[in-house]
Amino acid sequence: MAKLVSAGQFTYYARWWLGSVFGRKNALVNTMMINFQCNLKCKHCSVQGNADLLPEPHQLSYDIAKEEMQWGFDEGARVLFFEGGEPTLWKDGDKDLRDLIKAGRDIGYFVVGYTTNGTNVIYEDSDVISISLDGPRDVHDSIRGAGTYDKLMANLDKLSHPNIFANMVLMKDNKDALRRTVEAAAANKHIRGIMLNFITPPPHDQALSLDEKKALVDEALMLKKEGYPILNGTKALKEMLIEDYTELCPYWASAFVLPDCSHHYGCPMRGTESCKECGFTAVREYSLIVRGNPTAIREMSKRFAYSK
Ligand SMILES: C[S@@+](CC[C@H](N)C(=O)[O-])C[C@H]1O[C@@H](n2cnc3c(N)ncnc32)[C@H](O)[C@@H]1O
Repeated sequence: MAKLVSAGQFTYYARWWLGSVFGRKNALVNTMMINFQCNLKCKHCSVQGNADLLPEPHQLSYDIAKEEMQWGFDEGARVLFFEGGEPTLWKDGDKDLRDLIKAGRDIGYFVVGYTTNGTNVIYEDSDVISISLDGPRDVHDSIRGAGTYDKLMANLDKLSHPNIFANMVLMKDNKDALRRTVEAAAANKHIRGIMLNFITPPPHDQALSLDEKKALVDEALMLKKEGYPILNGTKALKEMLIEDYTELCPYWASAFVLPDCSHHYGCPMRGTESCKECGFTAVREYSLIVRGNPTAIREMSKRFAYSK
Protein backbone atom coordinates (compact mmCIF):
# COMPACT_ATOMS: atom_id res chain seq x y z
CA MET A 1 0.00 0.00 0.00
CA ALA A 2 1.12 3.57 -0.65
CA LYS A 3 1.89 5.48 2.56
CA LEU A 4 -0.16 8.51 3.55
CA VAL A 5 1.41 11.85 2.73
CA SER A 6 3.32 13.24 5.75
CA ALA A 7 2.19 16.43 7.50
CA GLY A 8 5.28 18.24 6.17
CA GLN A 9 4.59 17.17 2.61
CA PHE A 10 0.91 18.05 2.90
CA THR A 11 1.83 21.53 4.16
CA TYR A 12 4.28 21.99 1.29
CA TYR A 13 1.68 20.98 -1.33
CA ALA A 14 -0.95 23.22 0.28
CA ARG A 15 1.44 26.20 0.35
CA TRP A 16 2.39 25.56 -3.26
CA TRP A 17 -1.26 25.51 -4.27
CA LEU A 18 -2.13 28.65 -2.29
CA GLY A 19 0.96 30.38 -3.69
CA SER A 20 -0.18 29.55 -7.22
CA VAL A 21 -3.60 31.06 -6.52
CA PHE A 22 -1.93 34.26 -5.32
CA GLY A 23 0.48 34.51 -8.23
CA ARG A 24 3.61 32.73 -6.95
CA LYS A 25 4.22 30.44 -9.90
CA ASN A 26 6.73 27.74 -8.92
CA ALA A 27 7.31 24.37 -10.55
CA LEU A 28 6.01 21.39 -8.56
CA VAL A 29 7.15 18.68 -10.97
CA ASN A 30 10.61 18.28 -12.49
CA THR A 31 10.55 16.00 -15.54
CA MET A 32 14.03 15.03 -16.65
CA MET A 33 14.61 13.47 -20.06
CA ILE A 34 17.77 11.67 -19.04
CA ASN A 35 18.46 10.15 -22.46
CA PHE A 36 17.17 10.00 -26.02
CA GLN A 37 18.33 6.40 -26.63
CA CYS A 38 15.58 3.83 -26.96
CA ASN A 39 15.34 0.14 -27.85
CA LEU A 40 11.99 0.67 -29.67
CA LYS A 41 10.78 2.71 -32.62
CA CYS A 42 7.16 3.42 -31.72
CA LYS A 43 4.98 4.75 -34.52
CA HIS A 44 3.79 7.78 -32.58
CA CYS A 45 6.97 8.76 -30.72
CA SER A 46 7.50 12.50 -30.51
CA VAL A 47 11.18 11.98 -29.68
CA GLN A 48 11.70 9.90 -32.84
CA GLY A 49 9.41 12.34 -34.69
CA ASN A 50 11.82 15.16 -33.81
CA ALA A 51 14.94 12.98 -34.31
CA ASP A 52 16.62 15.47 -36.68
CA LEU A 53 16.21 18.28 -34.17
CA LEU A 54 17.45 16.52 -31.04
CA PRO A 55 20.31 18.49 -29.49
CA GLU A 56 23.59 16.81 -28.46
CA PRO A 57 24.47 15.18 -26.13
CA HIS A 58 21.80 12.47 -26.08
CA GLN A 59 22.24 11.59 -22.42
CA LEU A 60 22.85 13.34 -19.10
CA SER A 61 25.87 12.20 -17.09
CA TYR A 62 25.29 11.14 -13.48
CA ASP A 63 26.98 14.24 -12.04
CA ILE A 64 25.10 16.65 -14.31
CA ALA A 65 21.82 14.81 -13.67
CA LYS A 66 22.33 15.36 -9.94
CA GLU A 67 22.97 19.07 -10.54
CA GLU A 68 19.81 19.29 -12.62
CA MET A 69 17.80 17.49 -9.93
CA GLN A 70 19.09 20.04 -7.44
CA TRP A 71 18.19 22.87 -9.83
CA GLY A 72 14.59 21.61 -10.07
CA PHE A 73 14.40 21.17 -6.30
CA ASP A 74 15.64 24.74 -5.77
CA GLU A 75 12.95 25.91 -8.20
CA GLY A 76 10.43 24.37 -5.80
CA ALA A 77 9.74 20.98 -7.46
CA ARG A 78 9.10 18.04 -5.12
CA VAL A 79 7.93 15.45 -7.66
CA LEU A 80 10.67 14.10 -9.93
CA PHE A 81 9.94 12.11 -13.07
CA PHE A 82 12.50 10.48 -15.37
CA GLU A 83 11.64 10.25 -19.07
CA GLY A 84 13.52 9.43 -22.25
CA GLY A 85 14.26 7.83 -24.60
CA GLU A 86 14.01 4.74 -22.46
CA PRO A 87 15.06 5.63 -18.89
CA THR A 88 15.86 2.01 -17.94
CA LEU A 89 18.63 2.01 -20.59
CA TRP A 90 20.36 4.97 -18.93
CA LYS A 91 23.85 4.12 -17.65
CA ASP A 92 26.92 6.12 -16.67
CA GLY A 93 29.84 3.88 -15.67
CA ASP A 94 28.52 1.65 -12.89
CA LYS A 95 25.48 3.87 -12.29
CA ASP A 96 22.00 3.09 -13.58
CA LEU A 97 18.48 4.45 -13.16
CA ARG A 98 18.32 3.16 -9.57
CA ASP A 99 21.18 5.50 -8.63
CA LEU A 100 19.32 8.47 -10.12
CA ILE A 101 16.18 7.51 -8.17
CA LYS A 102 18.23 7.33 -4.96
CA ALA A 103 19.91 10.67 -5.71
CA GLY A 104 16.50 12.27 -6.21
CA ARG A 105 15.33 10.97 -2.84
CA ASP A 106 18.54 12.10 -1.13
CA ILE A 107 18.03 15.62 -2.48
CA GLY A 108 14.61 15.65 -0.85
CA TYR A 109 12.02 14.99 -3.58
CA PHE A 110 8.85 13.61 -2.02
CA VAL A 111 8.01 11.41 -4.98
CA VAL A 112 10.23 9.92 -7.69
CA GLY A 113 8.83 8.12 -10.74
CA TYR A 114 9.63 7.20 -14.31
CA THR A 115 7.96 6.11 -17.53
CA THR A 116 9.06 2.96 -19.31
CA ASN A 117 8.16 0.74 -22.24
CA GLY A 118 8.73 -2.16 -19.81
CA THR A 119 10.62 -4.35 -22.27
CA ASN A 120 14.08 -4.00 -20.73
CA VAL A 121 13.85 -4.21 -16.94
CA ILE A 122 11.41 -2.52 -14.56
CA TYR A 123 13.12 -1.23 -11.43
CA GLU A 124 10.86 -1.13 -8.39
CA ASP A 125 12.85 1.52 -6.50
CA SER A 126 10.68 4.51 -7.44
CA ASP A 127 7.39 5.61 -5.84
CA VAL A 128 5.49 5.59 -9.13
CA ILE A 129 6.02 3.62 -12.33
CA SER A 130 4.24 4.59 -15.52
CA ILE A 131 4.23 1.83 -18.12
CA SER A 132 3.26 2.56 -21.69
CA LEU A 133 0.37 0.45 -22.94
CA ASP A 134 -0.97 1.35 -26.37
CA GLY A 135 -3.36 -1.52 -26.94
CA PRO A 136 -4.11 -5.19 -26.41
CA ARG A 137 -1.33 -7.48 -27.67
CA ASP A 138 -1.98 -7.21 -31.45
CA VAL A 139 -2.41 -3.43 -31.44
CA HIS A 140 0.36 -2.67 -28.93
CA ASP A 141 2.80 -4.78 -30.99
CA SER A 142 1.77 -3.11 -34.26
CA ILE A 143 2.60 0.29 -32.72
CA ARG A 144 5.62 -0.62 -30.54
CA GLY A 145 7.10 -3.68 -32.30
CA ALA A 146 6.59 -7.46 -32.32
CA GLY A 147 6.87 -9.14 -28.94
CA THR A 148 6.79 -5.90 -26.90
CA TYR A 149 3.45 -6.67 -25.24
CA ASP A 150 4.51 -10.08 -23.99
CA LYS A 151 7.88 -8.74 -22.75
CA LEU A 152 6.08 -5.96 -20.84
CA MET A 153 3.61 -8.39 -19.29
CA ALA A 154 6.36 -10.88 -18.34
CA ASN A 155 8.34 -8.08 -16.64
CA LEU A 156 5.23 -6.83 -14.83
CA ASP A 157 4.64 -10.33 -13.48
CA LYS A 158 7.95 -10.15 -11.59
CA LEU A 159 6.84 -7.07 -9.63
CA SER A 160 5.04 -6.35 -6.39
CA HIS A 161 5.04 -2.55 -6.65
CA PRO A 162 1.97 -0.75 -5.24
CA ASN A 163 1.76 2.18 -7.67
CA ILE A 164 2.08 1.16 -11.31
CA PHE A 165 -0.22 2.72 -13.82
CA ALA A 166 -0.55 2.47 -17.58
CA ASN A 167 -0.19 5.38 -19.97
CA MET A 168 -2.04 5.02 -23.29
CA VAL A 169 -1.64 7.35 -26.26
CA LEU A 170 -4.68 7.27 -28.54
CA MET A 171 -3.90 7.63 -32.22
CA LYS A 172 -5.21 6.40 -35.61
CA ASP A 173 -3.86 2.88 -35.15
CA ASN A 174 -5.48 2.20 -31.77
CA LYS A 175 -8.57 4.41 -31.73
CA ASP A 176 -10.78 1.34 -32.18
CA ALA A 177 -9.08 -0.54 -29.37
CA LEU A 178 -9.84 1.71 -26.39
CA ARG A 179 -12.23 -0.69 -24.67
CA ARG A 180 -9.96 -3.71 -25.18
CA THR A 181 -6.95 -1.78 -23.82
CA VAL A 182 -8.82 -0.56 -20.75
CA GLU A 183 -10.09 -4.11 -20.15
CA ALA A 184 -6.52 -5.45 -20.40
CA ALA A 185 -5.27 -2.86 -17.90
CA ALA A 186 -8.16 -3.59 -15.52
CA ALA A 187 -7.55 -7.35 -15.71
CA ASN A 188 -3.85 -7.01 -14.86
CA LYS A 189 -3.27 -7.28 -11.11
CA HIS A 190 -0.12 -5.13 -11.26
CA ILE A 191 -1.75 -2.14 -12.96
CA ARG A 192 -3.68 0.29 -10.75
CA GLY A 193 -5.29 2.30 -13.51
CA ILE A 194 -4.84 3.79 -16.96
CA MET A 195 -4.23 7.37 -18.10
CA LEU A 196 -5.47 8.26 -21.57
CA ASN A 197 -3.77 10.79 -23.83
CA PHE A 198 -4.18 11.80 -27.44
CA ILE A 199 -1.16 11.84 -29.69
CA THR A 200 0.51 15.25 -29.91
CA PRO A 201 1.93 15.49 -33.43
CA PRO A 202 4.49 14.96 -34.87
CA PRO A 203 4.09 12.44 -36.39
CA HIS A 204 1.04 13.79 -38.23
CA ASP A 205 -0.04 10.56 -39.94
CA GLN A 206 -1.30 9.21 -36.58
CA ALA A 207 -3.09 12.44 -35.55
CA LEU A 208 -6.81 12.26 -34.73
CA SER A 209 -9.53 14.56 -36.00
CA LEU A 210 -11.66 16.44 -33.48
CA ASP A 211 -14.63 14.18 -34.30
CA GLU A 212 -12.52 11.09 -33.59
CA LYS A 213 -11.42 12.63 -30.28
CA LYS A 214 -15.04 13.42 -29.35
CA ALA A 215 -16.06 9.81 -29.95
CA LEU A 216 -13.13 8.59 -27.83
CA VAL A 217 -13.90 10.97 -24.96
CA ASP A 218 -17.53 9.73 -24.99
CA GLU A 219 -16.31 6.13 -24.95
CA ALA A 220 -13.86 6.85 -22.11
CA LEU A 221 -16.61 8.54 -20.07
CA MET A 222 -18.82 5.50 -20.60
CA LEU A 223 -16.02 3.12 -19.53
CA LYS A 224 -15.45 5.23 -16.42
CA LYS A 225 -19.16 5.01 -15.59
CA GLU A 226 -18.96 1.25 -15.99
CA GLY A 227 -16.30 1.27 -13.27
CA TYR A 228 -13.11 0.79 -15.28
CA PRO A 229 -10.02 2.34 -13.63
CA ILE A 230 -9.52 5.30 -15.97
CA LEU A 231 -7.44 7.77 -13.97
CA ASN A 232 -8.31 10.89 -16.00
CA GLY A 233 -10.96 12.92 -14.24
CA THR A 234 -14.26 13.51 -16.05
CA LYS A 235 -13.60 17.23 -16.47
CA ALA A 236 -10.04 16.62 -17.61
CA LEU A 237 -11.31 14.16 -20.23
CA LYS A 238 -13.73 16.77 -21.55
CA GLU A 239 -10.93 19.35 -21.66
CA MET A 240 -8.95 16.99 -23.91
CA LEU A 241 -11.25 18.38 -26.61
CA ILE A 242 -9.73 21.87 -26.19
CA GLU A 243 -6.96 21.15 -28.66
CA ASP A 244 -5.13 24.46 -28.40
CA TYR A 245 -4.60 24.49 -24.64
CA THR A 246 -2.07 27.34 -24.72
CA GLU A 247 -4.17 29.75 -22.68
CA LEU A 248 -5.06 27.20 -19.98
CA CYS A 249 -1.67 25.45 -19.76
CA PRO A 250 -0.09 26.10 -16.34
CA TYR A 251 3.33 25.71 -17.96
CA TRP A 252 5.17 27.03 -14.89
CA ALA A 253 3.98 24.06 -12.76
CA SER A 254 6.11 21.60 -14.67
CA ALA A 255 9.83 22.06 -15.34
CA PHE A 256 11.58 19.98 -18.02
CA VAL A 257 15.27 19.26 -18.36
CA LEU A 258 16.66 17.81 -21.61
CA PRO A 259 19.95 15.90 -22.02
CA ASP A 260 21.65 19.10 -23.27
CA CYS A 261 20.68 20.71 -19.89
CA SER A 262 18.24 23.07 -21.55
CA HIS A 263 15.32 24.00 -19.31
CA HIS A 264 11.71 24.23 -20.48
CA TYR A 265 8.43 24.89 -18.74
CA GLY A 266 5.19 23.09 -19.54
CA CYS A 267 6.81 20.84 -22.11
CA PRO A 268 9.69 21.02 -24.60
CA MET A 269 7.10 21.57 -27.38
CA ARG A 270 5.66 24.69 -25.78
CA GLY A 271 5.32 27.50 -28.29
CA THR A 272 5.63 25.20 -31.33
CA GLU A 273 2.85 24.16 -33.72
CA SER A 274 2.49 20.92 -31.67
CA CYS A 275 1.26 22.98 -28.74
CA LYS A 276 -1.90 23.82 -30.70
CA GLU A 277 -2.75 20.10 -30.90
CA CYS A 278 -1.80 19.16 -27.35
CA GLY A 279 -3.03 15.71 -26.36
CA PHE A 280 -1.26 15.41 -22.99
CA THR A 281 -3.71 14.65 -20.22
CA ALA A 282 -1.32 15.73 -17.44
CA VAL A 283 -1.59 19.32 -18.65
CA ARG A 284 -5.39 19.24 -18.13
CA GLU A 285 -5.00 17.74 -14.67
CA TYR A 286 -2.37 20.35 -13.66
CA SER A 287 -4.64 23.09 -14.95
CA LEU A 288 -7.64 21.77 -13.01
CA ILE A 289 -5.51 21.42 -9.88
CA VAL A 290 -4.42 25.06 -9.98
CA ARG A 291 -8.05 26.05 -10.68
CA GLY A 292 -9.01 24.25 -7.44
CA ASN A 293 -10.95 21.34 -8.95
CA PRO A 294 -11.41 18.96 -5.97
CA THR A 295 -11.58 15.77 -8.06
CA ALA A 296 -8.33 16.54 -9.88
CA ILE A 297 -6.62 17.45 -6.59
CA ARG A 298 -7.84 14.28 -4.86
CA GLU A 299 -7.28 11.81 -7.68
CA MET A 300 -3.91 13.10 -8.87
CA SER A 301 -2.63 13.34 -5.28
CA LYS A 302 -3.47 9.66 -4.79
CA ARG A 303 -1.20 8.74 -7.71
CA PHE A 304 1.57 11.30 -7.64
CA ALA A 305 1.86 12.92 -4.21
CA TYR A 306 2.66 9.87 -2.09
CA SER A 307 5.94 8.14 -1.34
CA LYS A 308 6.04 4.36 -1.73
C1 LIG B 1 8.63 9.36 -24.92
S1 LIG B 1 8.15 7.97 -23.97
C2 LIG B 1 9.61 7.66 -23.03
C3 LIG B 1 9.49 6.51 -22.09
C4 LIG B 1 9.53 5.10 -22.67
N1 LIG B 1 10.47 4.91 -23.70
C5 LIG B 1 8.14 4.63 -23.08
O1 LIG B 1 7.95 4.22 -24.22
O2 LIG B 1 7.27 4.65 -22.21
C6 LIG B 1 7.07 8.62 -22.71
C7 LIG B 1 5.60 8.54 -23.03
O3 LIG B 1 5.32 9.50 -24.05
C8 LIG B 1 4.38 8.92 -24.94
N2 LIG B 1 4.50 9.59 -26.24
C9 LIG B 1 5.46 9.42 -27.16
N3 LIG B 1 5.21 10.16 -28.25
C10 LIG B 1 4.04 10.82 -28.01
C11 LIG B 1 3.26 11.74 -28.77
N4 LIG B 1 3.62 12.11 -30.01
N5 LIG B 1 2.13 12.22 -28.21
C12 LIG B 1 1.76 11.84 -26.95
N6 LIG B 1 2.46 10.98 -26.20
C13 LIG B 1 3.59 10.47 -26.72
C14 LIG B 1 4.77 7.46 -24.98
O4 LIG B 1 3.73 6.63 -25.46
C15 LIG B 1 5.12 7.20 -23.53
O5 LIG B 1 4.00 6.76 -22.81
